[in-house]
Amino acid sequence: MYRHGSPVGLLDIIAHYPAPNVAFIGLLAVRESLHGIGLGRALYDRAEHLIRTDLRATTVRIAVIETNPACGFWRRMGFRTTGEVKRYEGRAVTSHAILMEKPLASASE
Ligand SMILES: CC(C)(COP(=O)(O)OP(=O)(O)OC[C@H]1O[C@@H](n2cnc3c(N)ncnc32)[C@H](O)[C@@H]1OP(=O)(O)O)[C@@H](O)C(=O)NCCC(=O)NCCS
Repeated sequence: MYRHGSPVGLLDIIAHYPAPNVAFIGLLAVRESLHGIGLGRALYDRAEHLIRTDLRATTVRIAVIETNPACGFWRRMGFRTTGEVKRYEGRAVTSHAILMEKPLASASE
């Protein structure tokens, strides 16, 4: 996403993953100096529209690291935790990702 010609945020979507009717959001980030003015919601709204109409997915999923305050943002976007937790074991850090998802009404509704 660009604002006055400068990049201010990005969101990537993994289509049809982990099932044909699901879209997985891999990353959402907004330039830190511009947090809190609606850009995250604007990016997500655009993505959800594309997910409904182009991908025709019925569910959106995301994995959020347990300590990330962005969980609150996803709740505001209508996501709920699924109860699934995935452990990530890296060289320097071990963490847990919380799975969240949002059911979508079908594009024809
Ligand atoms: C999460 C992130 C994308 C939110 O972007 P943003 O542009 O600041 O969000 P918005 O201003 O569009 O906020 C939309 C709504 O979510 C709420 N919200 C935003 N961040 C929140 C947070 N950390 N906790 C709770 N609510 C939050 C806002 O209050 C707003 O609520 P409203 O509907 O009542 O107005 C941004 O903080 C970010 O880039 N974080 C770093 C990267 C990251 O953690 N990405 C997510 C990985 S899972």
